[in-house]
Amino acid sequence: MCGIVGVTGNDNAVKILLEGLEKLEYRGYDSAGIYVNDQTGEDYLIKEKGRISELEKAVGPEVHGSTGIGHTRWATHGGVSVENAHPQYSQDHRFYLVHNGVIENFKELKSDYLTGTTFTSQTDTEVVVQLVDKFVNEGLSTKEAFVKTIGLLKGSSYGFLLMDSQNPDTLYVAKNKSPLLVGVGDNFNVVCSDALAMISSTHNFLELKDGEIVTITPDKVVIEDQSGNIINRDPFYVEMDSQDTDKGTYPYYMLKEIDEQPNVMRNLAQKYLSDNDMPNIDENLIKAIKESDHIHIVGAGTSYHAGLVGKALFEKLTNIPTDVHVASEYAYDEPLLSKKPFFIFLTQSGETADSREVLVNVNEQGYHSLTITNVQNSTLSREADFTLLLNAGPEISVASTKAYTAQIAVEAILAKAVGMAKGQIVADEFNVRQQLGLVATAMQAIIDEKDSIEELAKQYFVKADKAFYIGRGIDYFVSLEAALKLKEISYVHAEGFASGELKHGTIALIEEDTPVVGIITQHKTAGLTRSNLQETLSRGANILTIVSEDLAKSDDNIVIPTVDELLSPLVSVVPTQLIAYYTSLNKGLDVDRPRNLAKSVTVE
Ligand code: AGP
Repeated sequence: MCGIVGVTGNDNAVKILLEGLEKLEYRGYDSAGIYVNDQTGEDYLIKEKGRISELEKAVGPEVHGSTGIGHTRWATHGGVSVENAHPQYSQDHRFYLVHNGVIENFKELKSDYLTGTTFTSQTDTEVVVQLVDKFVNEGLSTKEAFVKTIGLLKGSSYGFLLMDSQNPDTLYVAKNKSPLLVGVGDNFNVVCSDALAMISSTHNFLELKDGEIVTITPDKVVIEDQSGNIINRDPFYVEMDSQDTDKGTYPYYMLKEIDEQPNVMRNLAQKYLSDNDMPNIDENLIKAIKESDHIHIVGAGTSYHAGLVGKALFEKLTNIPTDVHVASEYAYDEPLLSKKPFFIFLTQSGETADSREVLVNVNEQGYHSLTITNVQNSTLSREADFTLLLNAGPEISVASTKAYTAQIAVEAILAKAVGMAKGQIVADEFNVRQQLGLVATAMQAIIDEKDSIEELAKQYFVKADKAFYIGRGIDYFVSLEAALKLKEISYVHAEGFASGELKHGTIALIEEDTPVVGIITQHKTAGLTRSNLQETLSRGANILTIVSEDLAKSDDNIVIPTVDELLSPLVSVVPTQLIAYYTSLNKGLDVDRPRNLAKSVTVE
């Protein structure tokens, strides 16, 4: 999704903007640009297709300023071109605008208000900046014109950052559904889609809520609601350190984030569990879930897959019926609900539009909700009744790894806490703190063997055009995640399949050398999955196995340390993450920024 940065009151504006855009590269984009103004009438607009590095090359030493805006564009309306890159500008070159989101009625606005206007792009964004210009030319102030324009946008999601070259030290900001934060500096202020982009400039941020309009100068931030009432809000402190967002010696963030997983497990155990495994979780949250009669877990992509494992954990440990929903499906096809449902939203970014749509619906109906997320003060975190943070550190790579395992670990901790509150289990029946320690050690053992996994990736996957991961029950859930990882960064068409289901049709796709990986960590289904693997082998497949030690046989490919079966996904997923990583790497692809994808999908 698009990334937005802005700064006012700092002579290093160009450097702050470009470094901020670099930090937002993970969000996925195809063009980028900046506009800067030096307050003496000199201003510069530079836009390029492709990577930030292309933009940096185009920004010559003469480009300077103390106020500016920047943008990485993930194309929605209008193809990838310099003309469609942001900042978009008014025909008289007075106003400059960057935007994240979608303006659904931009065509109507164009025909209703801008028939005589000269356009330079096919974007919906340009309609907005041309409207501001029109209304200013009709006598409104810049802010009045901005507010009037926003009032005309129908069904739109937007994060806007506007500059007026005749009023060049002021940033005008508006947001609705798309994330935007204001960073409070020392005699300067910044704006960003994600604190990550500006953490080198400040740790103090102001959250913005839907419908708010913000006017920012170097020494002042004025937040107003839609009625023009001024809102006083204190900044919050973001713990993140800038080195958290550096790759260090790693070639790609994804490998760094895979390697960080053992520590993420240990940190979560430390944060949410006491030495004797008693949960350190808000009693009101535990009570709200305990009193519910049905849990609904909602997520997208990898978060959805973490929810599938969560179902097993909650049903086993709390005895509360649990369903898992793909966010984009639930949003427009609500299931029959019980009297006291409780909703859990899994979302690394806390900004996924599909998931947020469901939360808006849940809030409107007055149901209780929890968001489990990696981003403090994210939209879904703020709008749910409760939040549990993953504390996994920034996850930069588009492919989610440590957030997935962290989500499952937090689900296990929460399920244990509710199970104990319900009297379903006693403290030492399922010692999560001890188990997470074993999981961390097991993860590390696999990570230490990464070279052998790279060899398997090179032998079986790099040249494959398709692949299957199969398993049963909780192993099937991991198969889905394993397949997504492989697909999204190596572009090998992979499917995660319930191993017993293959023979009901899909086995027709098995050809000579098709890689089929069996995930085997559950005693009751181990034999069945092995026979399903044999069915593919007899049709020419290259079969591989990822097996828990206590179920292993001499010819298994990847043997993983045994942990509690309920937590085995935390361990069995690690080899599949590495297979995806090394397949992508050896295909010469951009592991962290795969084609077509964005880290945080803030459009529906
Ligand atoms: C994961 O590898 C993908 N990049 C994607 O499926 C992601 O999990 C999904 O977009 C949900 O994102 P969220 O967790 O931030 O809501």
